[in-house]
Amino acid sequence: MSVSLSAFVRGLPKAELHLHIEGTLEPELMFELAARNGVALPYADIEAVRRAYDFANLQEFLDLYYAGAQVLRTQRDFHDLAMAYFRRLHADGGVHAEIFFDPQTHTERGIPFATVVEGLLSAIAEAERTLGVTCGLILSFLRHLSEEQAFETLREAEPWLDKFIGVGLDSSELGHPPSKFARVFAEVRRRGLKVLAHAGEEGPPEYVHEALDILHVDRIDHGNRALEDATLVTRLAREGMTLTVCPLSNLKLCVVRDLHDHPMKRMLDLGLRATINSDDPAYFGGYLLANYVETARAVNLSRYDLIQLARNSFTGSFLPAADVARHLAEIDAYAAQNPGELVAS
Ligand code: HPA
Ligand code: ZN
Repeated sequence: MSVSLSAFVRGLPKAELHLHIEGTLEPELMFELAARNGVALPYADIEAVRRAYDFANLQEFLDLYYAGAQVLRTQRDFHDLAMAYFRRLHADGGVHAEIFFDPQTHTERGIPFATVVEGLLSAIAEAERTLGVTCGLILSFLRHLSEEQAFETLREAEPWLDKFIGVGLDSSELGHPPSKFARVFAEVRRRGLKVLAHAGEEGPPEYVHEALDILHVDRIDHGNRALEDATLVTRLAREGMTLTVCPLSNLKLCVVRDLHDHPMKRMLDLGLRATINSDDPAYFGGYLLANYVETARAVNLSRYDLIQLARNSFTGSFLPAADVARHLAEIDAYAAQNPGELVAS
């Protein structure tokens, strides 16, 4: 008996741990919100938006990502954006997500912090009620801004701090090492929140060391370039540190030249707790399922690898231990009920 790769992965219970909600803005919704809010777009039509998504590096993407976010203005916009993502996650067999949002992208242009958070929180409640998908929210600081601005954002976030599961660090990596934010993340940890940082996407292994030793992160987002440092790899494996890897993002941002060169298989074989995620799927050409399936085909992930990746997505999550155990048991039951060999379709 054999089973198709995509059907097997769709049915496998999975969590998504690296997803920027602003990066799920599909061109269709961008146009709809631009019309709703009277915002002018620099594109003639939806095809022109898609043609513009041709990036040589992280910064070229970020320039369009921040421009696209300008159409998000009301609580309803943030709600609709997040609900569209939850529906796609559900269709891909995702059951849990831990998603980033970038408040500074919005507060800097006069959108109140409350508008952003309340829109996202209402969608999270609706997704749980209507789809059975659970979701935790991660506030993310923009690292191209100053540490003082991150402190100011933390002060603005004060009324909602108990609604967040963690605080992350994203945006332009090169020239903005984790150490730039040492004091603000010490304060975040003092508040009992989990700490995450994008590190080793474009930045050197030293940035991963800093994320571990100076920010004391609970997860590393990306982490690809850690593979250049054998001592670091040994440490990450020994400590069971989760890496939230994003294969189609890596391809679109030229972190890898070809998906066949992607280090996912190597990461798993090295004993790293790697996970597969979609990062900014509206910009990078695929949601969670596409990331699993295209990576599996490109680097020959086995049935065992795919099950391990799904397991890692829960053991690496910030869910309570009882929920992690329940999801792991669901994966085991699914694997037992679907024992066939996988065929690449
Ligand atoms: N890297 C850094 N910052 C980001 C990304 C990313 O992949 N996506 C959205 N902000
Ligand atoms: Zn990211």
